[in-house]
Amino acid sequence: MAKARKPNSPASSARREPRFAVAIMAAGKGTRLKSRHPKVLHQIAGKPLLEYVIEAAAQIVPVNDIYAIIGHEADLVRETLQHTGVNFVLQKEQRGTGHAIMIARAPLSEYDHFIVLSGDVPLIRPETIRELRDFHLKHNAAMTLLAAVPPDPTGYGRVIRKLNKGKPTEIVTAIVEQKSLTPAQMKFREMNAGVYSFSTSSLFANIDKLTTENAHRELYLTDMAAILSREGERVVAVTTPDFNQVLGINNRTELARLDALLREHKCAELMDSGVTIYRPETCVIDAGVQIESDTVIEPFVQLLGNTRIGTESRIRSYSVINNSQIADRVLVRPGSIIDESKIAAGAVIGPYSHLRPGSDVGENAHVGNFVETKKTRLGRGSKANHLTYLGDATIGDDVNVGAGTITCNYDGVNKHQTVIEDGAFIGSDSTLVAPVKIGKGSYVGASSCITNDVPDDALAIARGRQVVKEGWAREKRAARAKKSST
Ligand code: UD1
Ligand code: CA
Repeated sequence: MAKARKPNSPASSARREPRFAVAIMAAGKGTRLKSRHPKVLHQIAGKPLLEYVIEAAAQIVPVNDIYAIIGHEADLVRETLQHTGVNFVLQKEQRGTGHAIMIARAPLSEYDHFIVLSGDVPLIRPETIRELRDFHLKHNAAMTLLAAVPPDPTGYGRVIRKLNKGKPTEIVTAIVEQKSLTPAQMKFREMNAGVYSFSTSSLFANIDKLTTENAHRELYLTDMAAILSREGERVVAVTTPDFNQVLGINNRTELARLDALLREHKCAELMDSGVTIYRPETCVIDAGVQIESDTVIEPFVQLLGNTRIGTESRIRSYSVINNSQIADRVLVRPGSIIDESKIAAGAVIGPYSHLRPGSDVGENAHVGNFVETKKTRLGRGSKANHLTYLGDATIGDDVNVGAGTITCNYDGVNKHQTVIEDGAFIGSDSTLVAPVKIGKGSYVGASSCITNDVPDDALAIARGRQVVKEGWAREKRAARAKKSST
């Protein structure tokens, strides 16, 4: 039988899991993006850069142990990412990555160790952070950094390792920024990923030794490698073979590259789970999109935001679907735009339909060519197949909306409701002037302008009566011929 250990004995406290925090450096302006907006709010695959980093960090420590260091447009960053539940630390003036960590000194001092991530290195994987943490603990290091060997390390800080009989060891003596590389150091191809683990006490005992004597006149966190190493502290590096996950975003080209990389992964993941995507390289699918198996996505489709699509549906080319829920066996024909809307099973949309926010299409309903809907419920089996506008309308089941029907929902000041009850038939080219109600099972004659409610089972005709003038055209032609012969 295992012997029970006393709760607070030295043995148990020595075995206490070391407490880790995660600090995310996200205060920079991102000068090289040439943007008015904060760098970490720029998006790839439909999500801000910082959100990716927070999500990865949240796999390693609880969110209340995550500190996002923000500065440039801090209010906007805070507002955008409030929902994640992380803490925010304000770095008013951005005087470098070392300065960012100095600013967070008070909260970070509550932990034994902390991991530093960069808000502009969004594809970092949780497993890699975990490996970094474990390597750090195993080597009892003051500083552990993540290294990688990309095809072209230009622009990144380089890792300078201690050699043993000419061979590199895990010990790091310095990180040298691109601008400060000596010609001899150019041959070092190992980049610093901007991801670190620090022992809190060792770092804060030495961080005030940072100076601004460098190419940018900033306090560089990277300089801590040489400082700690000089102080006899242990600085080590762990290398990740997957350099793609540590690529940073400093300009628009890199932004586009990582966006493409992520979407490529997203398509691969969906295809692995049973979704057919033809020519995936032409599709734009956001990270948050969910699709069930046996659905087919044709070339040049965009699926954005939190869109969800069920099974056995088909989204044909050139359709753009944003934040919408599409159920099973739905057919979206080419060129349709669906925004913040809901489509039930078996419905057919398009070609060229525009479903604006608040559209709710029932089971097996059809919305066809050049039909626009907004804040409209279309009931089960109802059809609006051609050239129609349905706004602020509640339409029952099995209603036929003829070609060219318009709900006149706007009087120039207010919006009004149109109600069309089950089984009604609206003849082509009708205008329904809201507020108005078309009763159950009733008919509206083609080309009517309906301004009053139509009772159940009635026929409403509201158009000019046809007048036929026999022989009128013949007489006109004869009169014209006579005039030209004289
Ligand atoms: C940094 C590293 C470099 C590494 C690269 C990896 C330094 C000095 N250099 O370079 O060795 O190869 O990342 O991507 O650290 N930030 C703040 N406050 C500041 C300054 C920066 O929060 O005062 C944030 C930025 O918003 C950014 C991150 O820190 O998210 C990194 O800063 P950045 O200026 O992009 O550093 P790099 O030049 O890319
Ligand atoms: Ca960077």
